[in-house]
Amino acid sequence: MKKYDFDEIIPRKNTACVKHDALELFFGRDDLTPMWVADMDFRTPDFIMDALRTRCNHEVLGYAIPPESYWQTVIQWFQRHYGVSCIKEELHFIPGIVAGISFVIQAMTQPGDGILVTTPVYPPFLNLPQGGHRQLVCSPLKVEDGRFAIDFEDLEWRARQCRWMILSNPHNPGGTVWGEEVLRRVAEICYRNNVNVISDEIHADMTLPPHRHVSFSTVSPQAKEISITFMAPSKTFNMAGLGSSVCYCGSDSLRKRFFGYLDAYEVAGGNIFAFVGAEAAFKHGEEWLTQMLQYLSGNVDFLRGYLQEHLPQVKAILPEASYLAWLDFSDMGLTHEEIKDRLINRARVALNDGTTFGGSNYRCCFRINLGCPRATLADVLDRIVGCLK
Ligand SMILES: Cc1ncc(COP(=O)(O)O)c(C=O)c1O
Repeated sequence: MKKYDFDEIIPRKNTACVKHDALELFFGRDDLTPMWVADMDFRTPDFIMDALRTRCNHEVLGYAIPPESYWQTVIQWFQRHYGVSCIKEELHFIPGIVAGISFVIQAMTQPGDGILVTTPVYPPFLNLPQGGHRQLVCSPLKVEDGRFAIDFEDLEWRARQCRWMILSNPHNPGGTVWGEEVLRRVAEICYRNNVNVISDEIHADMTLPPHRHVSFSTVSPQAKEISITFMAPSKTFNMAGLGSSVCYCGSDSLRKRFFGYLDAYEVAGGNIFAFVGAEAAFKHGEEWLTQMLQYLSGNVDFLRGYLQEHLPQVKAILPEASYLAWLDFSDMGLTHEEIKDRLINRARVALNDGTTFGGSNYRCCFRINLGCPRATLADVLDRIVGCLK
């Protein structure tokens, strides 16, 4: 069995990559260790790179169509990993999940319609409804036992004003895995209030054992009837730059409208590398994924231990899925601006600003990306401790 090396430090500067090449633009300086954008600093696995190279050998890069073999690998992955039994007609290729959410908003809602999200949340969930002049309705998450929890009373009350909910399942930031019971309650509330649900499951494959991902559509017949699910190999196999996602919709009525929109407006075509990369990932990815998740779990444990020893004042929400941790520095006796300034200008570390995940409630909070070699993480944490002392 091949042993993959996640400790390797791979220089990524000057590769047209947002995480390493857009620091000056977003943080005002270029000499930071990037722990922000959600991709990993690990090598994209060899079986994906080999498949892309093989396709390149053909040397004609004309218009692409997903081959039957692509659909079969997607269907098998969905069955094996999420317990979703589907047929090809219930799936649609999507060039990216943010684009997919935007298409749902455009196709299925009107300006002024309420769109429900739980905050803090991945910023495009806030920006897309607002950008499209929909009414953004935020239900703040609670923190219970070091993890995010849904405030169901608040959610039910706010759902009454909404037509759609955008759910991050698992959750970004904080990597909270929503269990079956939680998702069933969300589905009940949404169904009762005529709210449809976008379940964004981009982080699902990176659920860290012993946690188990539950796909929203599987929790009840009602959940299936009211939902559109987005999945992708992009985060899991570090191939986000290929723009390769997929939408599942088990509801006849939603599918007819949504897939009808995608086809009528021709917005959801793919490129040849998206199909080749995804098929290779789903066909050959199991062993690499197991090893990568073990490494990520090690990084989460490292962060937990490090914070306990060196920064016990920081309240952390550590991921149960994926590699995004939420750090709350509000007990440090510093303002949000002071912490931010120290992180950037003293520690030279780029973390995501918590306020971009839902406004001023999240002052003094920052998101850190643990998808990196452990040596990088250790070095960054030393510098964070140093800048706060
Ligand atoms: C919850 C969530 N959805 C979607 C995306 C981005 O998806 P895509 O690159 O397919 O647009 C991210 C990336 O961080 C994410 O965390």
